[in-house]
Amino acid sequence: MKATYRFAFCLFAVLAVGFGATSLSSRERPAPAPAKAQKTAQKSTTAPTANQSQVDRGKYLVENVGMCEECHTPRDSNGNLDESRRLQGAAIWIMPVHPMTNWAMRAPAIAGLPGFTDAEAETVLEQGIGPNGLPIQPPMHVYHMAPADAQAIVAYLRSMPDTYPRD
Ligand code: HEC
Repeated sequence: MKATYRFAFCLFAVLAVGFGATSLSSRERPAPAPAKAQKTAQKSTTAPTANQSQVDRGKYLVENVGMCEECHTPRDSNGNLDESRRLQGAAIWIMPVHPMTNWAMRAPAIAGLPGFTDAEAETVLEQGIGPNGLPIQPPMHVYHMAPADAQAIVAYLRSMPDTYPRD
């Protein structure tokens, strides 16, 4: 009789702890719905249905982290960025201290991502490999971006008007 009670008590204790842990962990977990939605958005590499927050994040990364405009936006005669032609391709105005044979003299238009698939642009940003399968030429940086960041940038660039071909 006593043993049965003890068993029942143990069973109750185990269940109680188990239940407590489950409810605790479910309380700690962030709201599942938005997390799921974000995952789906990040996964789609072809024709992404970019949401506004992804585009905003891409804009922030382009303008404040990657500093893409420094090379991909043309400059006026005073050397200032010509904001009316943002990311529409530009001549490279910086030169290496030591001559390099593979130095690119032009940064292509990336507004609207003309001529690139999303996957190609992501490979450039994640691995520094161009659409031709060759390493990207300096002074373009070999970025090792996380896929979510590369996808946000692609979403932002795609949201810009495609003005290719330019000067
Ligand atoms: C320091 C100058 C510089 C900066 C900063 C820069 N780029 Fe570039 N980018 C270039 C040059 C030069 C090329 C051409 C490289 C080549 O021909 O291989 C290029 C090429 C590219 C290409 C095309 C690759 C190809 O094979 O044609 C993409 C896409 C690109 N850049 C995106 C970006 C993005 C996005 C950023 C910001 C996160 C950025 N770049 C920042 C200079 C730069």
